[in-house]
Amino acid sequence: MRILLLNGPNLQLLGMREPGIYGTGTLQELEGRCRKVAGELGVELQCRQSNWEGELVDWIGAIPGNFDGLLLNAAAYTHTSVAIRDAVAGVRVPTVELHLSNIFGRDEFRHRSYLAGVAWAVVAGMGFQGYELALRALVAHLRGEE
Ligand code: DQA
Repeated sequence: MRILLLNGPNLQLLGMREPGIYGTGTLQELEGRCRKVAGELGVELQCRQSNWEGELVDWIGAIPGNFDGLLLNAAAYTHTSVAIRDAVAGVRVPTVELHLSNIFGRDEFRHRSYLAGVAWAVVAGMGFQGYELALRALVAHLRGEE
């Protein structure tokens, strides 16, 4: 089983970016924690980050035949991108929308997600732990273990 983890714009800055909101851990640490869980679960995890909307759209569009599930923190594009929403809807692969912070407790413009309606599940506000839990839940879902 193969899972793709995509992190969107500015998440390469984790560790230095607004640590009061996003914590002090880096993207490399976050990906490392997810890789460890993937190893435990016996699944293959590929981790990618991009600041470019079109690159994220291309990667999502290439999922069929290559990955079984998607973990997606589209970051700011969550609140703006019809293109990413359409890509997720188009590939019809179980997708978890991820956010480190609780977007519903922050600025009003973050309350709207273009992705939630096409995602299988949404995890927000649990920091790095949310990614690990989402990976476990997605794999269980794909294995029909719920
Ligand atoms: C985020 C929340 C978004 O509103 C923000 O633009 C991000 C990160 C999060 O992980 O909490 O860049 O997706």
